[in-house]
Amino acid sequence: MALNADLRSPESAAHLRNSAAEAHAFSPNVGAEISGVDLSQPLSDRDYRTIRQALLDYGVIFFRDQNITPEQHIAFAERFGPININRFFTHIEGYPQIAEVRKEPEQKINIGGGWHTDHSYDQIPALGSVLVARELPEQGGDTLFANMALAYETLSPGLKRTLEGLNAVHSSRHVFGAAAAAKVTAETANDLKNRLGNSDAATQDSLHPVVIRHPESGKKILYVNPGFTLKFEGWTADESRPLLKFLYNHAMRPEFSCRFQWREGSIAFWDNRSTWHYALNDYHGSRRLMHRITIEGMPLV
Ligand code: SIN
Repeated sequence: MALNADLRSPESAAHLRNSAAEAHAFSPNVGAEISGVDLSQPLSDRDYRTIRQALLDYGVIFFRDQNITPEQHIAFAERFGPININRFFTHIEGYPQIAEVRKEPEQKINIGGGWHTDHSYDQIPALGSVLVARELPEQGGDTLFANMALAYETLSPGLKRTLEGLNAVHSSRHVFGAAAAAKVTAETANDLKNRLGNSDAATQDSLHPVVIRHPESGKKILYVNPGFTLKFEGWTADESRPLLKFLYNHAMRPEFSCRFQWREGSIAFWDNRSTWHYALNDYHGSRRLMHRITIEGMPLV
C-alpha cells in the first residue's frame, strides 16, 4: 500500500495544527502516543519541549496521521540534534540524511529483524532515530520496543553490583563488515544487494559500561544488545555468552516491551540509549519501505 497522498481530512489536519502536543502512554511500560501536533509544520518551542520530555519518559514516541515530506522529516529531526549520515544503508535519492529501510516482495531478509540498539558500536552512540512509514504491507511489519531502564531496575541487587563494574565491547564488523560479507551465501548477498553496502567502513569497535546513566534523564540503563555486543571487556566471548544470554532473556520479557502497528501516516521516534527495537519479518511477498533519520548522541558514562 503506497502512502503518498495527504490522507488527512482538512478537519483532522487543522486539529493537529491548532492544539498543543500531548503524550499518552501507549502501553504500561514503554512508549507514548503524541497527539495535537502536525509535524509538517515547524515545531513550537512548547511542543518541542513536550516531545523531548516524552522521549525521555517513555523511551519511544509515536505519531499518527502525519504527512511529511523528506525536507520536513529532516527539519523535525534537526530540532533534536545533528543528523548522523548512515554509513551502511542506501539513502534516498537526493537526501543522504535519510536512510532507506526497505524490503521488496521477493526479498527474504529484513533490516533490523532482531533485538538491537542502533549504533552501540560507535564511541558516541546515536541519540535516536525518527522512522517514517512510506509503504506498508497489508498486514505485518510491526516493530517491537523494549524498556532497558526497566530491564536494569528489575535485576537483583547482587547482579546489579556485578554489572556495574563491567564494560562491554560492541562492534559493527560482524554485522556490516567484510568478514560478515564473506560469510554470507550468494543468495543472502543478492537478497541484501542495493540495501546495505560499504562494508569497508565497518571498522567501529567501542567499549561502553554495561550499565550506563542516561545522558539526559540520569536513569540507569542496561546497555548491551544481541545485535552489536560481542563480550565483556577482559572476558572471552565464550565466558561472556552465558551472562549475556541471561541478560538478553531477561530484557526480552514481553511485559517490558510494546508492539507498534504501523498505519498510513505513522512515525516512531525512539531513544537508542534507553530502548531496544525489533522489526518483525512476517510479511514475505509484500513491500515495506520506511525512511529513517538517525540523530547524533552524546558520550555515555
Ligand atoms: C531499524 O531497526 O532501524 C528498523 C526498524 C523498522 O523497520 O521497524
